[in-house]
Amino acid sequence: MVSVAILGAAGGIGQPLSLLMKLNAHVTKLNLYDIVNVPGVASDISHVATNSAVKSFLGASKLAEAVTGIDLAIIPAGVPRKPGMTRDDLFKINAGIVKGLIEAIAENSPRAFICIISNPVNSTVPIAAEVLKKQGIYDPKRLFGVTTLDVVRASRFVRDIRPNVDAATLRIPVVGGHSGNTIVPLLSLASTPLDLSETQIAELTHRIQFGGDEVVKAKDGAGSATLSMAYAGARFADSLIRAIKGETVVEPTFIALAADPQGAEEYRKLGAGNLEFFAVPVELSSQGVKRIAPLNGDISSGERQAIAVAAEALATNISTGVAFVTPPP
Ligand code: NAD
Ligand code: LMR
Repeated sequence: MVSVAILGAAGGIGQPLSLLMKLNAHVTKLNLYDIVNVPGVASDISHVATNSAVKSFLGASKLAEAVTGIDLAIIPAGVPRKPGMTRDDLFKINAGIVKGLIEAIAENSPRAFICIISNPVNSTVPIAAEVLKKQGIYDPKRLFGVTTLDVVRASRFVRDIRPNVDAATLRIPVVGGHSGNTIVPLLSLASTPLDLSETQIAELTHRIQFGGDEVVKAKDGAGSATLSMAYAGARFADSLIRAIKGETVVEPTFIALAADPQGAEEYRKLGAGNLEFFAVPVELSSQGVKRIAPLNGDISSGERQAIAVAAEALATNISTGVAFVTPPP
């Protein structure tokens, strides 16, 4: 029995993500919440022949009900980028949206796992943590920024230049955050050795860091990645659900390093320093974060430098998020 709420379910990500979660055999209840159009989305998806019950929740007056009795909330609510914008430009609107949604989850399902897709993830996750702290129910093991799309892009983009690699099973740890140079793919630790030249590493790293911009440009004003994000979001949610059911699953995700202070040490030494949040490979369990997984080897000097660059930008993103909920004295 797993009850899932998708907040922002009528959007570009929300609709295909809701469909993919309807196909997930572990899900028994699917609550779809949005401030527009969600009755049609829920009615449509409810006809798919799987066993879960789909319910529609339209508008702020239905939010509390939508998040009552849930095990997992997935949040793709908020505005997407247009060409020329950075993810940080979304903060003004999305910070308030995420804050309101987390307050409702905190009041009605304080033990729910929370997966945040809304950008800028580097700041919306700290916002969520501050809200949960204020409510006295913060558990860093249960709050996740979804960075799976970076991991998905890393395997897929490698496949473009290594046709013998299986993009579906290749795993490349991606650490740091989720925007431009805060995204640090550790190509040297790919699950299959890739034997890449320095030029290939530089080009792949840049493409993974700016993969989101590729889609924003191609959509030409009609938004950002939705279908690949729905795939990535459903994959992360499925990993978490399988972990809740007892499987051992490792996924990189943007979490508070306090979730596993001992496991975090390796990443702090590699350059995460004193950052409160960092994307790391996480071993998931029924409690959420079981431990921060160790890296399976030494990273390159280029990757170390990239982590240093990421850490500097992340420090600002994190403090902007924290200050939105808890302004400095
Ligand atoms: P969209 O505009 O198509 O959909 C957003 C949905 O959120 C809309 O249906 C809207 O009505 C809804 N919404 C707005 N305010 C709300 C509120 N207060 N409560 C509930 N729902 C609300 O946008 P999209 O393309 O689906 O993108 C959504 C977000 O996901 C954006 O912030 C985007 O930047 C982000 N995103 C993140 C990743 C990632 O890797 N983490 C990838 C792609 C997009
Ligand atoms: C992405 O990586 O595709 C998302 O964060 C959306 C964006 O704004 O690029």
